[in-house]
Amino acid sequence: MKVFVTGGTGYIGSHTVVELIENGYEVVILDNFSNSKPEVLDYIYKITGVKPKFYEGDCCDKEILRKIFKENEIDSVIHFAGFKAVGESVQVPLKYYRNNLVSTISLCEVMNEFNCKNIVFSSSATVYGDPKELPLKEQMELGKTTNPYGTTKAYIERILSDLSFSDKEWKVILLRYFNPVGAHSSGLIGENPNGTPNNLMPYIMKVAIGELPYLNIFGDDYDTKDGTGVRDYIHVVDLAKGHLKALEHLEDVEGVKIYNLGTGVGYSVLEMVKTFEEVNNVKVPYKIAPRREGDVASCYADSSLALKELGWKAKLGLEEMVSSSYKFILGQKK
Ligand code: NAD
Ligand code: UD1
Repeated sequence: MKVFVTGGTGYIGSHTVVELIENGYEVVILDNFSNSKPEVLDYIYKITGVKPKFYEGDCCDKEILRKIFKENEIDSVIHFAGFKAVGESVQVPLKYYRNNLVSTISLCEVMNEFNCKNIVFSSSATVYGDPKELPLKEQMELGKTTNPYGTTKAYIERILSDLSFSDKEWKVILLRYFNPVGAHSSGLIGENPNGTPNNLMPYIMKVAIGELPYLNIFGDDYDTKDGTGVRDYIHVVDLAKGHLKALEHLEDVEGVKIYNLGTGVGYSVLEMVKTFEEVNNVKVPYKIAPRREGDVASCYADSSLALKELGWKAKLGLEEMVSSSYKFILGQKK
């Protein structure tokens, strides 16, 4: 089975490529390195002993997409390529709408041309907006997205749904990720954003190695167990395995299926900091800062549908999330 992975050298894509190779899939990657590095391909080789076929290029460019489909008999596509920085999407919305929407539309048009109509798409819990009820379930009405990045995810979900409605041969799985963290056990691949991180775990990691002096905890007066924000953190390797389960079930899908990929457990910011300190035996100084605009108090998944229909369940706990993150960032420092 040959799988085309767009954005396959990125954070979630690279972990998924490793799982795919280790489970006997042939992988073809397209990435333009807008948010990843060519070295990731060497790390994938070091981990798996296999060099996946790689094309450098833009997923908005139909010519390179055609070349890939011509040169490879693709069975299914996992579409990760896209921009994901929430704050930047507010500053430069057109950049986000162009890249995320045009890449998806170009990809689907070329898939149509080559009669490949199986796709797994990276959506996000952000499409639920401010949760009215917890845990979040797939059939709940979607909320108002709070930033252009989130809106691109909601639009793409809609585009793929309309497409599958128009042509029953399309089989679409939308995976709504909660908060992916952690790294591969080898310590070779993980998340290390350029510049100052926006997300909690990469920020904690940089504080832990002394690159940043302290963590700002955005608000300690939420209606949560300790007043800090609660999220459903999921280990990136569990998330990657969820994609394999989705691929296995794609053939049985009629139209569109949507699955939450989370653990169902919410941890607070303070719990994350404390666990990181205890497990890794390192200090993470922090200060309480004002709430961050657009943040919700709590967000966690009901992932029982993924268990029931895909046979998928997150297995790795918070300890593995924080220890693998620390191992990875220490390796980056060398
Ligand atoms: P990432 O930035 O690490 O990976 C995305 C990859 O796509 C990068 O390697 C980048 O270079 C590439 N890319 C971007 N635009 C491209 C284009 N036009 N053509 C070719 N390559 C392109 O991000 P990630 O964390 O691995 O996220 C993967 C997907 O999952 C994204 O669509 C993201 O929006 C979605 N997602 C991520 C999270 C998260 O917290 N990380 C949560 C929910 C959803
Ligand atoms: C955000 C996005 C989501 C995106 C995800 C990963 C929103 C509403 N959600 O999720 O769409 O998929 O990032 O890119 O924008 N925190 C601190 N200090 C920090 C950083 C974070 O206290 O320096 C807190 C936040 O207030 C929050 C928690 O940590 O309570 C998690 O934040 P973050 O990692 O940024 O993820 P989300 O906001 O949940």
